Amino acid sequence: MANERTLSIIKPDAVAKNVIGEIESRFEKAGLKIVAAKMLQLSQAQAEGFYAEHKERSFFGDLVGFMTSGPVVVQVLEGDNAIATNRDLMGATNPKEAEAGTIRADFAQSIDANAVHGSDSPESAEREIAYFFGSEEICAR
Ligand code: TYD
Ligand code: MG
Repeated sequence: MANERTLSIIKPDAVAKNVIGEIESRFEKAGLKIVAAKMLQLSQAQAEGFYAEHKERSFFGDLVGFMTSGPVVVQVLEGDNAIATNRDLMGATNPKEAEAGTIRADFAQSIDANAVHGSDSPESAEREIAYFFGSEEICAR
């Protein structure tokens, strides 16, 4: 399996629920390493740029509003098949459709406040990691 990096975000709803540690624990138990991490309050421009692929969608304004509603944890996860492994741990976008035991099934309430983000392809992982981190902020482990 390929060693990969992926961008993960613990979204404002999960930070507000005080479950950062529980979510990180799932990544670590699955063998993913946190190789970069920071907590920040996204500006509107940062959130709009991050989600630019969705800018024509009806939910875009609400998504940006939600992502700027409180602090987030942005991080880089590394490991075998990190992109797919993270997406499996996250569960479906809509928590009502997410498999039992996934992060979204356990911690998310709705499709618009769904606890976590994860890159969906190697191309998006590369773009999203570079969006938040310089190479000097990512620690080889
Ligand atoms: P998307 O990239 O489709 O989902 P994922 O986060 O699983 O990769 O959508 C990005 C975010 O946009 C999603 O996490 C929550 C929000 N969203 C909505 O609010 N309503 C929707 O109908 C969809 C598809 C997404
Ligand atoms: Mg997505």
